[in-house]
Amino acid sequence: MVKDKGKKPYLKPVIKKVSFADTGKFKSEHLKTPASKIIENLSVQNLISDYGSPLYVVAESTLRRSYRELAQAFTGRYPRTTIAYSYKTNYLSAICAILHQEGAWAEVVSGFEYEIAGRLGVPGRMIIFNGPYKKPEEMKRAFIDGAAVNLDSLDELKTAGEVARALGRKVKVGIRVNMQLNYPVWDKFGFSYERGEALEICRQIKKHRYLQLAGLHCHAGTYIIDLGIYRRVIENLTTLAINIKKELKLDMEYLDIGGGYPSRNSLHTQLMPGYTIAPPIEQYAETICSVINRKSGDFKNPPRLILEPGRSVVDECMHLLTTVVAVKERSSGNRAVIVDAGVNLLSASTYYRYEMASDRNSSEAMEEVDIYGALCMQIDVLRKSVRLPVVKTGDIITISKVGAYNFTQSMQFIYPRPAVVLLNEGKAAIIRRKEKYEDIKGPEIIPARLLKHVPAKQK
Ligand SMILES: Cc1ncc(COP(=O)(O)O)c(C=O)c1O
Repeated sequence: MVKDKGKKPYLKPVIKKVSFADTGKFKSEHLKTPASKIIENLSVQNLISDYGSPLYVVAESTLRRSYRELAQAFTGRYPRTTIAYSYKTNYLSAICAILHQEGAWAEVVSGFEYEIAGRLGVPGRMIIFNGPYKKPEEMKRAFIDGAAVNLDSLDELKTAGEVARALGRKVKVGIRVNMQLNYPVWDKFGFSYERGEALEICRQIKKHRYLQLAGLHCHAGTYIIDLGIYRRVIENLTTLAINIKKELKLDMEYLDIGGGYPSRNSLHTQLMPGYTIAPPIEQYAETICSVINRKSGDFKNPPRLILEPGRSVVDECMHLLTTVVAVKERSSGNRAVIVDAGVNLLSASTYYRYEMASDRNSSEAMEEVDIYGALCMQIDVLRKSVRLPVVKTGDIITISKVGAYNFTQSMQFIYPRPAVVLLNEGKAAIIRRKEKYEDIKGPEIIPARLLKHVPAKQK
């Protein structure tokens, strides 16, 4: 059969949903995503050409502002407030160093995180050591340094006693307390408040020859938008502290109410943008501080109020820049956009509906697209249905507010991890270089017998 060279191949027609936002009188300018061309006075295109794509960028002024807003909201209402930044949220050394410059203590949950704080010069008295598994040698270091060690289980109580006995002196410890506050209940950590376990442990510590009870801790969950949860945590912690004072004649030095304050990101489950739903930080501060101020007369010395924020401090300052490497028509739904960053760099995309913007001007036509990563895995979906100016290969997409948990949970899956740069006053500085293949394969050892690649039979 002679082919008709002028004829185009048949393509099945595509049915596309047209959003009201794009039609007639509903066409709405405010639904156009502003182009993301500049971050902290630096062009995203220049950043990508200087440091490669994908690229994590950290805006220093935003990080400092987020911290200050939180700290001021609390210290203005209860001056004995201390902010211990939750390292696991993002322990890039430059980020921790900036927060320590701002006055933050370190909240760590492993010997590794403790070491990061130590290397940054954070003194032990400004370290809170949480987590369900502290090795004896790690506890020993923390006791010697004078860190606040919050015990999570009876097993840890035993270990702490043994470590203190070996040191030959009494050491201070706190306990972690869990409460029936949310569903599903966060009762993995510490001792139950309602079942009286927490008070019972305090009695045991009081009798211990080498341990002295110094504080109470409760971390109630994460991205908590119900202020009532914080009210109950602080009510319960203060009540427990007052009972300890009455029965055991002990004054608590600190009440630690953990983290959990939301950032300005939105969850997939939220219809409206998260920042329109979550209360402002002042309301958290008012809720918590009003209770502790009301009850402070019951204490000889008002206890230190410790907060351990993570995402609320660090989410907003960090962005992931990624380049479109392919755009595909599909027989159903939105066009598929493939970018060069995957879920291995953005684990929190499973619960956050991240804001995304391209460097293309939004005066051009808009479309709804699905954004996929470059991993050869079906699960590598960064976001479904995001409105962008009609996408072309080479566009740079800024994925915003990715500072919490993504970097610390990132992994070198299929690709090495990209560089991280810190942006400050129009200048960029590398705070983590791009990984090399050697960074991934370097620790491996291959037994010599496996280096013969040709199976004997095929010789
Ligand atoms: C003990 C403790 N404190 C603080 C945090 C920080 O939580 P967030 O990022 O929700 O503020 C966590 C996180 O899980 C935690 O386990």
